[in-house]
Amino acid sequence: MAKVVVTGASGLLGRALYQTFKEEGFTVTGFAKSRVSAGLLSVDLLDSDELRARLRQLAPQVIVHSAAYRSPDQVEADAAAARRMNVHASQVIGEVAAELGAQLLYISTDYVFDGSSPPYKADDPPNPVNLYGQTKLEGERATLHACPGALVLRVPVLYGPVERLDESAVTVLLRCLLEPPAAGCAVSDLEKRYPAHVRDVADICHRLLEKQREDRAAVRGVYQWSGSETLTKYGMVRAMAAVFGLSAEHVTPTRAPPPAGTRRPLDSRLDTGRLAELGIGTHTPFAEGIEQCLSAWLEKKDAPQ
Ligand SMILES: NC(=O)c1ccc[n+]([C@@H]2O[C@H](COP(=O)([O-])OP(=O)(O)OC[C@H]3O[C@@H](n4cnc5c(N)ncnc54)[C@H](OP(=O)(O)O)[C@@H]3O)[C@@H](O)[C@H]2O)c1
Repeated sequence: MAKVVVTGASGLLGRALYQTFKEEGFTVTGFAKSRVSAGLLSVDLLDSDELRARLRQLAPQVIVHSAAYRSPDQVEADAAAARRMNVHASQVIGEVAAELGAQLLYISTDYVFDGSSPPYKADDPPNPVNLYGQTKLEGERATLHACPGALVLRVPVLYGPVERLDESAVTVLLRCLLEPPAAGCAVSDLEKRYPAHVRDVADICHRLLEKQREDRAAVRGVYQWSGSETLTKYGMVRAMAAVFGLSAEHVTPTRAPPPAGTRRPLDSRLDTGRLAELGIGTHTPFAEGIEQCLSAWLEKKDAPQ
């Protein structure tokens, strides 16, 4: 049975990856840092020696590298740590994958593009507008340099089953429906997003790696996935209100530029052509996906402790 290592296995996407590869019959080892319940292994990716030793000892046939510092504000606050995590750890993983002859898939982001002329093809020139996008781009390059046969999968904003609403930039929007501020709530109707369900992304990762096993020479380099619905934050709030029968009367759309702070791309829609050529793509309709994920969260929240 093939052995898979999933980094960031306690995270939003990592949990779905861990589950999908298990269900597909792989022997999965999940790396995490602080949330190491449920059989995950504590491995600090900032400790290169520990990371190398763990990977060599496990000798997996497949590595899915999902761990990252992925909050743009967190990255700006500690750029050096973010570089060590998003770039240097990715390079170390690439080096060990090459040494072991393992398949390697690095998860990246639409934030490598500036969002001024979508849709973006996988080989369009990147131009990140913030440090998070920059470090993820450098992580892609470090991965492909260390392990030229590696795969990179760029994904848009993600949602899925959450432990806390603020785990996802999508699910956090439910707060303005559950806890309406007295002064109402203005939500951006400007930046376009293409939310993807983590279960769809995990399925795509599995199928992409399967295709690569069939033809390692042809299937390599950068691939991209995008949800197929265009939604602003305001659109997502309206969709959630409709799904859960909540009032959104106090929510108003705003097209004002975001307040000062870390910049985000306006519309970094990803072209999914390279995946389509392989016959890969799964999109759960947003209303259906968000209902599943947030119903589970709402039930847990209301359950007696
Ligand atoms: N979320 C999005 O909307 C989105 C959008 C585009 C791309 N992406 C990309 O998708 C990937 C997954 O993101 P996500 O949302 O699942 O992230 P997440 O929920 O923030 O999870 C991050 C993971 O990294 C682990 N981690 C953090 N520091 C670590 C360290 N020093 N050593 C080992 N592990 C460490 C965390 O472990 P502990 O929690 O156990 O400490 C956690 O498992 C990332 O590469 C991200 O850039 C995400």
